[in-house]
Amino acid sequence: MAKLPTISIAKNTLPKKGTLVFLVEKDGQLPKTAKALDTSGQLQRAVDLSDFSGASKSVVTLVAPDGVFDKWIVLGCGEVSEAGEADWMKLGGKVNSTTKKSELVTIIGELGEKGSKLEAVSFAAMAAGAKMAAYDFDQYKTKSKKPAPTKSRKLVFAHDDTAAVRREWKRLDSVSDGVLLARDLVNLPPNVLTPVEFAKQAKDLEKLGVKVEILGDKELKKLKMGALLGVAQGSEQPARMAIMKWDGGKAKEQPIAFVGKGVIFDTGGISLKPGGGMEDMKGDMGGAAAVTGLMHALASRKAKVNVIGIIGIVENMPDGNAYRPGDILTSMSGQTIEIINTDAEGRLVLADALWYCHTRFKPKFMINLATLTGAILVALGKNYAGLFSNNDELAENIYAAGLTTDEKVWRMPLDKEFDKMIDSKFADMKNTGGRYGGSSTAGQFLQRYVEDTPWAHLDIAGTAMGSPKHEFNQSWGSGYGVRLLDRLVSDFYE
Ligand code: BES
Ligand code: MN
Ligand code: ZN
Repeated sequence: MAKLPTISIAKNTLPKKGTLVFLVEKDGQLPKTAKALDTSGQLQRAVDLSDFSGASKSVVTLVAPDGVFDKWIVLGCGEVSEAGEADWMKLGGKVNSTTKKSELVTIIGELGEKGSKLEAVSFAAMAAGAKMAAYDFDQYKTKSKKPAPTKSRKLVFAHDDTAAVRREWKRLDSVSDGVLLARDLVNLPPNVLTPVEFAKQAKDLEKLGVKVEILGDKELKKLKMGALLGVAQGSEQPARMAIMKWDGGKAKEQPIAFVGKGVIFDTGGISLKPGGGMEDMKGDMGGAAAVTGLMHALASRKAKVNVIGIIGIVENMPDGNAYRPGDILTSMSGQTIEIINTDAEGRLVLADALWYCHTRFKPKFMINLATLTGAILVALGKNYAGLFSNNDELAENIYAAGLTTDEKVWRMPLDKEFDKMIDSKFADMKNTGGRYGGSSTAGQFLQRYVEDTPWAHLDIAGTAMGSPKHEFNQSWGSGYGVRLLDRLVSDFYE
């Protein structure tokens, strides 16, 4: 990961040097500190002459006429009363991109003539946006043309109510760290992020107070996870499962649980994928990455809730020992699965992970994340994750968290009609249901492994990787799901 700027929260007093960023609403009025500094009227003149109207993310830059500061930057924040968390994060991203060459940047946390209209939570979201925007997965670019950052950049967010901004920042800083961890995991190449290495990264969360168990081949076999192991058997890389526990709630409180698909690379197996674009399948562990990033975020901000995170980590390869179409696997639940297509492997990994999760932990609810189907890209594109659920309240809560964070979801149907499509001639079910309704038949398959546990499945094949870049995400691996689920937890279950 590229070196991130240092971010600090400070009292709203002016520094003696560096770049200043002023925030302006839709009315275009400069805040009071800017007006006081602008004794020559040059800043006001620049704003007037550039037709600046305060529209969101519009910028006016001026070499500071006072000779004290380097630059004065005016950043439009648009209609502030309508701006949500993600809008402020985008503005933070804009702060980052317009000040890349400045070593010291002070963002003056004032809005309006009285300077009092900027809420602490909005300002903290801006800081988080700047941090996430600065993320760049460049560690393998040994000949990068970008000049190496010799000195570290410092972004100072100055606000009158430092205590309130610090409180919000502590939370959002933790969440950003979780997002960046998830991005790193998705971006890492599969020869580096093997299942063993992924499990090690999960184990690393112990430094935050998470309890982590790693299950290896022997344990998985003993637990009879025949579906997950069926996928793994065609790879030289042994399978792993990581079980992460964060006990931030009351001792006897029933936990909530998150389960992730962690296919570190998906060749399709014997039902081999076409070559074009196959490299993208290094991101087929985006669900597991989101769960790991979420656990990082929750532990780091000491969320007051008991949480289980489980990730099934395998590689789907076509070697001489690989599972084949026609094979019948017996999952941990005892249900048997006829393999029609070895490329429908994610649901097999999740079948055992979900079953293990709800039988061992009896969670209040279970949410799984998976880059599960290409069909969800056809249905919803790259900005919405597919949401499938057996529980309306849980689904509505996730939907609401999606609106707050702008990590959007759209509910898709589950139905007994889809169940019929995965009935098998030879076993309890088959692992694909044909061309039509591919995302729903996959969801229906998963539902056979959750019994009565309130459950939701997020198909993040479109959103976890290669989704459209924006002000605070310039990365291929987006870290989708971490902010969404952190918000779900904090708004509804803490
Ligand atoms: N990992 C893929 C789904 C995927 C596709 C993720 C594109 C991200 C981008 C999954 O394992 C898969 O191969 N699904 C098949 C299922 C089919 C064989 C029933 C698919 O979507 O084609
Ligand atoms: Mn596949
Ligand atoms: Zn896959």
